[in-house]
Amino acid sequence: AVAAAAAGRFDLARTLSQMLHIQNVFVVEGDSDTEPWVADQLGLQAGQYLHTVLRDGDVVAVTGGTTVAALARNMISRQDYRNLQVVPARGGVGETVEYQANTIASTLAEKLGGTSIMLHVPDRLSPGAVEQLLTDPYVQERLPIIRASTVVVHGIGDAMAMARRRRASEEELSILKTRGAMAEAFGYYFDEHGDVAYSMKTIGLRLSDIGHVREVLAVAGGTQKANAIAAAAKAYRIDTLVTDEGAARRLVQHQ
Ligand code: F6P
Repeated sequence: AVAAAAAGRFDLARTLSQMLHIQNVFVVEGDSDTEPWVADQLGLQAGQYLHTVLRDGDVVAVTGGTTVAALARNMISRQDYRNLQVVPARGGVGETVEYQANTIASTLAEKLGGTSIMLHVPDRLSPGAVEQLLTDPYVQERLPIIRASTVVVHGIGDAMAMARRRRASEEELSILKTRGAMAEAFGYYFDEHGDVAYSMKTIGLRLSDIGHVREVLAVAGGTQKANAIAAAAKAYRIDTLVTDEGAARRLVQHQ
């Protein structure tokens, strides 16, 4: 029965790979929406995969959220990489400390014998404040490193769930609804076609930077994220997706 279940997940992964145009897909057992241990499985699987792509000198950008935090927590330590840097993909200090990109970057750097840098910039800034911060030496020192990342590890969220988690204003919520926002990743909201519906004014990695990244790894699971994963897959290049059966089965059903 265990072997049959594994074979089923392997088939699901292959179907998803073709359907979403993502080269590598891994599907772990369970549904993280209903079973809390599944997040750790997602993290473990993604961490194992990450070891196979990491090279000396890499700059690994990580986003925040509970799933990428689970990756950092479950990452098997290996100290023999040379000159590895782990950086937060974007500023974003809006989340609980544990789930902030800065915290995750430092945990991961420790596990990989690398160094990390912090970027303390609030999630919600006025356009004027962003302009001003971009001229700040603290930001000018860090931003080029982040934008030149070689590996990106990120979470994907359901657009409305993320907007609420970020305490978006009524005005933002109604823009997101009107524009049909489905997914959120790196501070960008995407509609079902993968077009940008809205983007947050924060500082960090931009969608246009993804082009020169060697490996883009997405980690996201749970039935309720199925539509978000499908939208994100249309929006930008994802090389590898680590997901769970909950999201995978829903995605395949909606094909
Ligand atoms: O806020 C950071 C972030 O990576 C978002 O871009 C993403 O939508 C979300 O976290 C995913 O969070 P979780 O893994 O907790 O669902």
